[in-house]
Amino acid sequence: MRVRPASVYRYVLLGIGAFLSIYMVYSIIGYDDGSHVPIHRPQRHLYLTVSQDRVGMRFGNLAPKRILYWTTVFGATVPSTMLSDCPGLTDRCVIDTNRHQINSADAVVFHAADLSRFPLPITRKPNQVFVFNSMETPDNSGRFAVPDSFFNWTSTHLYSSDAVHKYGSFMIPTQIAESRGFKVQSYYIQPKRLQKSKNGIFGLISNCHTPSKRELALQELGKHINVTIGGKCASDDRLKSICPPGVECLDVFEQYPFFIAIENTVCNDYVTEKIWSRLTVPSIPIVMRRRVYKNILPPNSFIAMDDYKNPIEMANHLRALESNTTAYSEYFGWRQKGTWTSAPWNSPGYRNGVCRVCELLWKTKDNETETDKSYENIWEWFDKESQCEKDEFVRSWLSG
Ligand SMILES: *[C@@H]1O[C@H](CO)[C@@H](O)[C@H](O)[C@H]1NC(C)=O
Ligand SMILES: *[C@@H]1O[C@H](CO)[C@@H](O)[C@H](O)[C@H]1NC(C)=O
Ligand SMILES: *[C@@H]1O[C@H](CO)[C@@H](O)[C@H](O)[C@H]1NC(C)=O
Ligand SMILES: *[C@@H]1O[C@H](CO)[C@@H](O)[C@H](O)[C@H]1NC(C)=O
Repeated sequence: MRVRPASVYRYVLLGIGAFLSIYMVYSIIGYDDGSHVPIHRPQRHLYLTVSQDRVGMRFGNLAPKRILYWTTVFGATVPSTMLSDCPGLTDRCVIDTNRHQINSADAVVFHAADLSRFPLPITRKPNQVFVFNSMETPDNSGRFAVPDSFFNWTSTHLYSSDAVHKYGSFMIPTQIAESRGFKVQSYYIQPKRLQKSKNGIFGLISNCHTPSKRELALQELGKHINVTIGGKCASDDRLKSICPPGVECLDVFEQYPFFIAIENTVCNDYVTEKIWSRLTVPSIPIVMRRRVYKNILPPNSFIAMDDYKNPIEMANHLRALESNTTAYSEYFGWRQKGTWTSAPWNSPGYRNGVCRVCELLWKTKDNETETDKSYENIWEWFDKESQCEKDEFVRSWLSG
Protein backbone atom coordinates (compact mmCIF):
# COMPACT_ATOMS: atom_id res chain seq x y z
CA MET A 1 0.00 0.00 0.00
CA ARG A 2 1.25 3.45 -0.91
CA VAL A 3 1.36 5.97 1.87
CA ARG A 4 0.99 9.60 0.77
CA PRO A 5 3.28 12.09 2.60
CA ALA A 6 0.29 14.27 3.62
CA SER A 7 -1.29 11.42 5.56
CA VAL A 8 2.01 10.68 7.32
CA TYR A 9 2.00 14.25 8.68
CA ARG A 10 -1.60 13.81 9.67
CA TYR A 11 -0.76 10.67 11.67
CA VAL A 12 2.23 12.34 13.30
CA LEU A 13 0.11 15.33 14.31
CA LEU A 14 -2.66 13.05 15.56
CA GLY A 15 -0.08 11.13 17.58
CA ILE A 16 1.30 14.26 19.18
CA GLY A 17 -2.23 15.47 19.87
CA ALA A 18 -3.18 12.19 21.47
CA PHE A 19 -0.04 12.22 23.64
CA LEU A 20 -0.70 15.77 24.81
CA SER A 21 -4.33 14.93 25.65
CA ILE A 22 -3.32 11.86 27.63
CA TYR A 23 -0.65 13.84 29.43
CA MET A 24 -3.17 16.54 30.36
CA VAL A 25 -5.59 13.96 31.69
CA TYR A 26 -2.75 12.39 33.64
CA SER A 27 -1.73 15.73 35.13
CA ILE A 28 -5.27 16.36 36.27
CA ILE A 29 -5.53 12.94 37.83
CA GLY A 30 -2.22 12.93 39.66
CA TYR A 31 -2.99 14.58 42.95
CA ASP A 32 -1.15 15.15 46.15
CA ASP A 33 -2.93 14.60 49.42
CA GLY A 34 -0.33 16.60 51.29
CA SER A 35 0.32 14.18 54.12
CA HIS A 36 3.29 12.35 52.62
CA VAL A 37 6.97 12.98 52.85
CA PRO A 38 8.10 14.06 49.37
CA ILE A 39 11.21 11.92 49.47
CA HIS A 40 9.20 8.73 50.01
CA ARG A 41 6.76 9.41 47.20
CA PRO A 42 7.33 7.00 44.34
CA GLN A 43 8.04 8.40 40.89
CA ARG A 44 4.88 9.01 38.95
CA HIS A 45 4.52 6.64 36.05
CA LEU A 46 1.72 7.13 33.64
CA TYR A 47 0.21 3.66 33.72
CA LEU A 48 0.96 2.89 37.34
CA THR A 49 -0.52 5.91 39.06
CA VAL A 50 -3.72 6.24 37.07
CA SER A 51 -5.60 3.79 39.25
CA GLN A 52 -9.19 3.03 38.53
CA ASP A 53 -9.97 4.67 41.83
CA ARG A 54 -8.59 8.02 40.79
CA VAL A 55 -10.16 7.95 37.36
CA GLY A 56 -13.44 7.18 39.09
CA MET A 57 -12.89 10.02 41.56
CA ARG A 58 -12.25 12.52 38.78
CA PHE A 59 -14.42 11.36 35.93
CA GLY A 60 -16.88 8.75 37.20
CA ASN A 61 -19.12 11.54 38.36
CA LEU A 62 -17.65 14.99 38.13
CA ALA A 63 -20.01 16.62 40.58
CA PRO A 64 -18.75 16.71 44.15
CA LYS A 65 -20.91 14.86 46.69
CA ARG A 66 -23.18 17.11 48.70
CA ILE A 67 -23.22 16.85 52.49
CA LEU A 68 -26.10 18.69 54.10
CA TYR A 69 -25.92 19.57 57.80
CA TRP A 70 -29.58 19.38 58.78
CA THR A 71 -28.82 20.61 62.29
CA THR A 72 -26.44 23.03 63.87
CA VAL A 73 -23.57 21.67 66.00
CA PHE A 74 -24.12 22.79 69.59
CA GLY A 75 -26.14 25.71 68.26
CA ALA A 76 -23.60 26.87 65.68
CA THR A 77 -24.02 26.62 61.92
CA VAL A 78 -21.12 24.63 60.48
CA PRO A 79 -18.83 26.60 58.17
CA SER A 80 -18.94 25.70 54.47
CA THR A 81 -15.13 25.63 54.57
CA MET A 82 -15.14 22.58 56.85
CA LEU A 83 -13.62 20.32 54.19
CA SER A 84 -10.52 22.45 53.82
CA ASP A 85 -9.33 20.30 56.73
CA CYS A 86 -9.46 17.15 54.54
CA PRO A 87 -6.29 16.82 52.43
CA GLY A 88 -7.04 15.27 49.04
CA LEU A 89 -10.80 15.59 49.46
CA THR A 90 -11.34 19.35 49.51
CA ASP A 91 -12.97 19.37 46.08
CA ARG A 92 -14.69 15.99 46.38
CA CYS A 93 -17.58 17.13 48.56
CA VAL A 94 -19.37 20.34 49.40
CA ILE A 95 -20.96 21.29 52.69
CA ASP A 96 -24.46 22.68 52.62
CA THR A 97 -26.59 24.04 55.46
CA ASN A 98 -29.69 24.99 53.48
CA ARG A 99 -32.39 22.49 54.48
CA HIS A 100 -34.43 23.30 51.35
CA GLN A 101 -31.67 21.65 49.33
CA ILE A 102 -32.21 18.24 50.89
CA ASN A 103 -33.22 16.65 47.59
CA SER A 104 -29.79 17.26 46.13
CA ALA A 105 -27.89 15.98 49.19
CA ASP A 106 -25.96 12.70 49.06
CA ALA A 107 -25.62 12.66 52.85
CA VAL A 108 -27.61 14.45 55.53
CA VAL A 109 -25.84 14.91 58.86
CA PHE A 110 -27.73 15.26 62.14
CA HIS A 111 -25.77 16.37 65.20
CA ALA A 112 -27.38 14.40 68.02
CA ALA A 113 -27.44 17.10 70.71
CA ASP A 114 -29.14 19.56 68.29
CA LEU A 115 -31.79 17.14 66.96
CA SER A 116 -34.58 18.58 69.08
CA ARG A 117 -34.22 22.07 67.56
CA PHE A 118 -35.21 21.08 64.01
CA PRO A 119 -38.17 19.12 62.63
CA LEU A 120 -36.97 15.93 60.97
CA PRO A 121 -37.12 15.81 57.16
CA ILE A 122 -40.42 14.49 55.81
CA THR A 123 -39.04 12.63 52.81
CA ARG A 124 -35.80 10.93 51.90
CA LYS A 125 -34.35 9.89 48.59
CA PRO A 126 -33.42 6.21 48.08
CA ASN A 127 -29.66 6.66 47.79
CA GLN A 128 -29.35 9.34 50.41
CA VAL A 129 -27.62 8.45 53.67
CA PHE A 130 -28.72 9.93 56.97
CA VAL A 131 -25.77 10.29 59.34
CA PHE A 132 -25.97 10.24 63.14
CA ASN A 133 -23.22 12.48 64.50
CA SER A 134 -21.88 13.08 68.01
CA MET A 135 -18.44 13.38 69.54
CA GLU A 136 -19.92 13.19 73.01
CA THR A 137 -21.12 10.35 75.23
CA PRO A 138 -24.73 9.12 74.86
CA ASP A 139 -25.81 10.95 78.04
CA ASN A 140 -24.43 14.20 76.64
CA SER A 141 -25.94 13.71 73.19
CA GLY A 142 -29.56 14.60 73.94
CA ARG A 143 -31.20 11.18 73.58
CA PHE A 144 -33.74 12.71 71.22
CA ALA A 145 -36.06 10.00 69.92
CA VAL A 146 -36.10 9.35 66.17
CA PRO A 147 -38.12 6.80 64.13
CA ASP A 148 -36.71 3.27 63.87
CA SER A 149 -34.09 2.72 61.15
CA PHE A 150 -33.82 6.46 60.55
CA PHE A 151 -30.03 6.58 60.38
CA ASN A 152 -27.87 4.78 57.80
CA TRP A 153 -24.43 5.69 59.11
CA THR A 154 -22.96 6.58 62.49
CA SER A 155 -20.26 9.17 63.08
CA THR A 156 -19.29 9.20 66.76
CA HIS A 157 -16.31 8.89 69.09
CA LEU A 158 -16.68 5.11 68.82
CA TYR A 159 -14.15 3.32 66.65
CA SER A 160 -16.99 1.03 65.56
CA SER A 161 -18.74 3.99 63.87
CA ASP A 162 -18.97 4.11 60.09
CA ALA A 163 -17.10 7.43 60.20
CA VAL A 164 -15.20 7.90 63.48
CA HIS A 165 -15.51 11.46 64.79
CA LYS A 166 -13.08 11.69 67.66
CA TYR A 167 -11.03 14.18 69.60
CA GLY A 168 -7.29 14.09 69.04
CA SER A 169 -5.02 12.08 66.82
CA PHE A 170 -4.70 8.46 65.88
CA MET A 171 -1.60 7.07 67.62
CA ILE A 172 0.14 4.42 65.53
CA PRO A 173 3.41 2.44 65.61
CA THR A 174 6.13 4.36 63.77
CA GLN A 175 6.70 1.32 61.58
CA ILE A 176 3.20 1.67 60.16
CA ALA A 177 3.63 5.42 59.69
CA GLU A 178 6.82 4.80 57.74
CA SER A 179 5.34 2.05 55.61
CA ARG A 180 2.61 4.48 54.60
CA GLY A 181 5.10 7.22 53.80
CA PHE A 182 3.78 9.52 56.52
CA LYS A 183 5.89 12.29 57.96
CA VAL A 184 6.84 10.94 61.41
CA GLN A 185 6.07 13.24 64.31
CA SER A 186 8.52 12.91 67.19
CA TYR A 187 7.35 12.92 70.81
CA TYR A 188 10.87 12.82 72.23
CA ILE A 189 11.44 14.56 75.55
CA GLN A 190 14.75 15.84 76.91
CA PRO A 191 15.56 13.40 79.78
CA LYS A 192 16.22 16.27 82.17
CA ARG A 193 12.55 17.24 81.83
CA LEU A 194 11.68 13.99 83.63
CA GLN A 195 13.26 15.38 86.82
CA LYS A 196 10.36 16.84 88.78
CA SER A 197 10.30 19.85 91.10
CA LYS A 198 7.02 18.75 92.73
CA ASN A 199 5.71 15.37 93.76
CA GLY A 200 2.46 13.46 93.41
CA ILE A 201 -0.47 13.96 91.08
CA PHE A 202 -1.62 17.23 89.53
CA GLY A 203 -4.98 17.91 87.95
CA LEU A 204 -7.05 20.83 86.69
CA ILE A 205 -10.65 19.98 87.45
CA SER A 206 -13.78 22.00 86.82
CA ASN A 207 -16.46 19.33 87.17
CA CYS A 208 -16.54 18.47 90.86
CA HIS A 209 -19.37 15.91 90.76
CA THR A 210 -19.01 13.33 88.02
CA PRO A 211 -21.04 10.22 87.08
CA SER A 212 -17.90 8.12 87.57
CA LYS A 213 -17.28 9.58 91.06
CA ARG A 214 -13.75 10.46 90.06
CA GLU A 215 -13.70 12.94 92.94
CA LEU A 216 -14.12 10.19 95.57
CA ALA A 217 -11.29 8.13 94.10
CA LEU A 218 -8.95 11.15 94.10
CA GLN A 219 -9.91 12.07 97.64
CA GLU A 220 -8.99 8.60 98.84
CA LEU A 221 -5.74 8.54 96.83
CA GLY A 222 -4.89 11.89 98.42
CA LYS A 223 -4.60 10.18 101.79
CA HIS A 224 -1.59 8.22 100.55
CA ILE A 225 0.09 10.47 97.98
CA ASN A 226 0.01 14.22 97.30
CA VAL A 227 -2.90 15.08 95.02
CA THR A 228 -2.85 18.73 93.94
CA ILE A 229 -6.05 19.92 92.33
CA GLY A 230 -6.29 23.26 90.58
CA GLY A 231 -9.24 24.93 88.88
CA LYS A 232 -12.85 25.22 90.00
CA CYS A 233 -12.74 22.15 92.25
CA ALA A 234 -9.57 23.22 94.09
CA SER A 235 -9.57 23.28 97.87
CA ASP A 236 -8.12 26.78 98.28
CA ASP A 237 -8.02 30.08 96.38
CA ARG A 238 -4.32 29.87 95.52
CA LEU A 239 -4.94 26.59 93.68
CA LYS A 240 -8.23 27.78 92.17
CA SER A 241 -6.28 30.41 90.25
CA ILE A 242 -3.17 28.33 89.52
CA CYS A 243 -4.18 28.31 85.86
CA PRO A 244 -6.33 31.07 84.29
CA PRO A 245 -9.45 29.75 82.50
CA GLY A 246 -8.87 28.88 78.86
CA VAL A 247 -5.10 28.52 79.31
CA GLU A 248 -3.51 25.09 78.92
CA CYS A 249 -0.78 25.63 81.56
CA LEU A 250 1.35 22.79 80.26
CA ASP A 251 4.25 24.21 82.28
CA VAL A 252 2.34 23.55 85.51
CA PHE A 253 1.56 19.97 84.47
CA GLU A 254 5.22 19.47 83.64
CA GLN A 255 6.28 20.11 87.26
CA TYR A 256 4.48 17.02 88.55
CA PRO A 257 5.34 13.38 87.84
CA PHE A 258 1.68 12.39 87.27
CA PHE A 259 -1.41 14.17 86.03
CA ILE A 260 -5.13 13.43 86.07
CA ALA A 261 -6.59 12.65 82.65
CA ILE A 262 -9.74 10.94 83.91
CA GLU A 263 -12.83 11.81 81.87
CA ASN A 264 -16.07 12.94 83.52
CA THR A 265 -17.72 9.85 82.06
CA VAL A 266 -16.01 6.54 81.38
CA CYS A 267 -17.13 5.15 78.00
CA ASN A 268 -15.46 3.07 75.28
CA ASP A 269 -13.21 5.11 72.97
CA TYR A 270 -14.14 8.33 74.75
CA VAL A 271 -10.84 10.18 75.15
CA THR A 272 -10.85 13.97 75.02
CA GLU A 273 -8.50 16.92 75.23
CA LYS A 274 -7.73 15.85 78.79
CA ILE A 275 -5.26 13.54 77.04
CA TRP A 276 -4.78 15.02 73.58
CA SER A 277 -3.89 18.58 74.57
CA ARG A 278 -1.20 17.25 76.94
CA LEU A 279 0.44 14.72 74.67
CA THR A 280 3.71 16.65 74.69
CA VAL A 281 3.87 17.00 78.48
CA PRO A 282 6.63 15.00 80.25
CA SER A 283 4.29 13.60 82.89
CA ILE A 284 2.37 10.31 83.14
CA PRO A 285 -1.41 10.50 82.56
CA ILE A 286 -3.63 8.76 85.09
CA VAL A 287 -6.88 7.35 83.75
CA MET A 288 -9.61 5.24 85.31
CA ARG A 289 -10.22 2.17 83.14
CA ARG A 290 -7.52 0.51 81.09
CA ARG A 291 -9.96 -0.97 78.57
CA VAL A 292 -10.87 2.50 77.26
CA TYR A 293 -7.27 3.47 76.48
CA LYS A 294 -5.47 0.27 75.62
CA ASN A 295 -6.23 0.50 71.88
CA ILE A 296 -5.90 4.26 71.69
CA LEU A 297 -2.65 5.18 73.47
CA PRO A 298 0.80 3.59 73.08
CA PRO A 299 1.45 0.66 75.43
CA ASN A 300 3.01 1.62 78.76
CA SER A 301 2.27 5.32 78.27
CA PHE A 302 -0.36 5.76 81.00
CA ILE A 303 -1.42 4.46 84.40
CA ALA A 304 -4.95 3.15 84.93
CA MET A 305 -6.58 3.04 88.36
CA ASP A 306 -7.98 -0.40 87.68
CA ASP A 307 -4.45 -1.81 87.37
CA TYR A 308 -4.49 -1.71 91.18
CA LYS A 309 -6.64 -3.41 93.80
CA ASN A 310 -7.27 -0.22 95.73
CA PRO A 311 -6.03 3.36 96.29
CA ILE A 312 -3.30 2.30 98.74
CA GLU A 313 -1.75 -0.14 96.29
CA MET A 314 -1.84 2.49 93.55
CA ALA A 315 -0.32 5.23 95.75
CA ASN A 316 2.46 2.84 96.77
CA HIS A 317 3.30 2.16 93.14
CA LEU A 318 3.26 5.85 92.22
CA ARG A 319 5.58 6.70 95.11
CA ALA A 320 7.91 3.90 94.06
CA LEU A 321 8.03 5.44 90.58
CA GLU A 322 8.80 8.86 92.04
CA SER A 323 11.91 7.49 93.67
CA ASN A 324 13.12 5.27 90.83
CA THR A 325 14.07 7.21 87.70
CA THR A 326 14.61 4.03 85.69
CA ALA A 327 11.13 2.72 86.41
CA TYR A 328 9.58 6.18 85.90
CA SER A 329 11.33 6.63 82.54
CA GLU A 330 9.89 3.38 81.23
CA TYR A 331 6.56 5.15 80.71
CA PHE A 332 8.30 7.45 78.24
CA GLY A 333 9.96 4.66 76.24
CA TRP A 334 7.58 5.07 73.29
CA ARG A 335 8.72 8.69 73.01
CA GLN A 336 12.42 8.19 73.60
CA LYS A 337 12.74 5.17 71.33
CA GLY A 338 10.39 6.70 68.78
CA THR A 339 8.40 3.48 68.46
CA TRP A 340 5.05 5.28 68.36
CA THR A 341 3.83 8.40 66.63
CA SER A 342 0.58 9.95 65.42
CA ALA A 343 -0.89 9.66 61.95
CA PRO A 344 -0.89 13.05 60.19
CA TRP A 345 -4.19 14.84 60.70
CA ASN A 346 -6.87 13.40 58.38
CA SER A 347 -4.40 11.35 56.38
CA PRO A 348 -5.71 8.45 54.26
CA GLY A 349 -6.74 5.59 56.54
CA TYR A 350 -7.03 7.93 59.53
CA ARG A 351 -9.72 10.34 58.43
CA ASN A 352 -11.98 11.90 61.01
CA GLY A 353 -15.60 13.07 61.05
CA VAL A 354 -16.96 14.74 57.95
CA CYS A 355 -13.77 13.98 55.99
CA ARG A 356 -14.48 10.29 56.44
CA VAL A 357 -18.13 10.80 55.51
CA CYS A 358 -16.97 12.44 52.28
CA GLU A 359 -14.55 9.60 51.59
CA LEU A 360 -17.23 6.98 52.24
CA LEU A 361 -19.59 8.69 49.82
CA TRP A 362 -17.00 8.13 47.10
CA LYS A 363 -16.29 4.53 48.00
CA THR A 364 -17.40 2.57 44.97
CA LYS A 365 -19.93 -0.12 45.67
CA ASP A 366 -18.08 -2.72 43.61
CA ASN A 367 -18.90 -5.41 46.13
CA GLU A 368 -22.35 -6.80 45.43
CA THR A 369 -22.75 -7.95 49.01
CA GLU A 370 -22.37 -4.37 50.26
CA THR A 371 -25.98 -3.42 50.76
CA ASP A 372 -27.95 -0.55 52.18
CA LYS A 373 -28.03 -0.40 55.91
CA SER A 374 -29.66 1.42 58.76
CA TYR A 375 -29.58 1.37 62.55
CA GLU A 376 -32.88 0.13 63.90
CA ASN A 377 -32.57 1.82 67.29
CA ILE A 378 -29.79 4.37 67.26
CA TRP A 379 -29.71 5.04 71.01
CA GLU A 380 -29.66 1.35 71.80
CA TRP A 381 -26.69 0.98 69.46
CA PHE A 382 -24.93 4.00 70.97
CA ASP A 383 -25.39 2.72 74.53
CA LYS A 384 -24.39 -0.84 73.74
CA GLU A 385 -21.19 0.16 71.94
CA SER A 386 -20.22 2.88 74.43
CA GLN A 387 -20.59 0.74 77.58
CA CYS A 388 -20.57 3.86 79.72
CA GLU A 389 -20.08 3.29 83.42
CA LYS A 390 -21.53 5.07 86.39
CA ASP A 391 -19.74 4.79 89.75
CA GLU A 392 -19.55 0.97 90.04
CA PHE A 393 -15.83 0.89 89.56
CA VAL A 394 -14.94 3.60 92.08
CA ARG A 395 -17.28 2.14 94.71
CA SER A 396 -15.71 -1.30 94.50
CA TRP A 397 -12.18 0.10 94.23
CA LEU A 398 -12.59 2.13 97.40
CA SER A 399 -13.69 -0.96 99.31
CA GLY A 400 -11.09 -3.20 97.58
C1 LIG B 1 3.75 15.97 99.84
O1 LIG B 1 4.42 17.17 99.45
C2 LIG B 1 5.16 17.78 100.52
C3 LIG B 1 5.72 19.08 100.02
O2 LIG B 1 6.42 18.90 98.83
C4 LIG B 1 6.25 16.81 101.00
O3 LIG B 1 6.94 17.38 102.09
C5 LIG B 1 5.62 15.48 101.42
O4 LIG B 1 6.59 14.56 101.73
C6 LIG B 1 4.75 14.94 100.30
N1 LIG B 1 4.04 13.76 100.75
C7 LIG B 1 4.15 12.57 100.14
C8 LIG B 1 3.30 11.48 100.71
O5 LIG B 1 4.87 12.38 99.17
C1 LIG C 1 14.09 0.62 89.73
O1 LIG C 1 13.31 0.15 88.65
C2 LIG C 1 13.99 -0.78 87.81
C3 LIG C 1 13.12 -1.02 86.59
O2 LIG C 1 11.79 -1.32 86.94
C4 LIG C 1 14.27 -2.03 88.62
O3 LIG C 1 14.95 -2.97 87.80
C5 LIG C 1 15.12 -1.67 89.82
O4 LIG C 1 15.32 -2.80 90.64
C6 LIG C 1 14.47 -0.54 90.62
N1 LIG C 1 15.42 -0.06 91.64
C7 LIG C 1 15.11 -0.03 92.92
C8 LIG C 1 16.14 0.52 93.82
O5 LIG C 1 14.03 -0.44 93.35
C1 LIG D 1 -17.39 -8.59 49.64
O1 LIG D 1 -17.79 -8.47 51.01
C2 LIG D 1 -17.87 -9.68 51.69
C3 LIG D 1 -18.46 -9.43 53.07
O2 LIG D 1 -18.08 -8.19 53.57
C4 LIG D 1 -16.45 -10.30 51.75
O3 LIG D 1 -16.49 -11.53 52.43
C5 LIG D 1 -15.94 -10.49 50.33
O4 LIG D 1 -14.60 -10.96 50.37
C6 LIG D 1 -16.00 -9.18 49.55
N1 LIG D 1 -15.62 -9.43 48.15
C7 LIG D 1 -14.82 -8.63 47.47
C8 LIG D 1 -14.57 -9.00 46.04
O5 LIG D 1 -14.31 -7.62 47.97
C1 LIG E 1 -31.10 4.30 54.54
O1 LIG E 1 -32.11 3.95 55.44
C2 LIG E 1 -33.41 3.91 54.85
C3 LIG E 1 -34.44 3.72 55.96
O2 LIG E 1 -34.11 2.65 56.77
C4 LIG E 1 -33.43 2.81 53.81
O3 LIG E 1 -34.71 2.72 53.21
C5 LIG E 1 -32.38 3.08 52.76
O4 LIG E 1 -32.29 2.01 51.85
C6 LIG E 1 -31.02 3.30 53.40
N1 LIG E 1 -30.11 3.80 52.38
C7 LIG E 1 -28.81 3.48 52.32
C8 LIG E 1 -28.06 4.06 51.18
O5 LIG E 1 -28.28 2.74 53.12
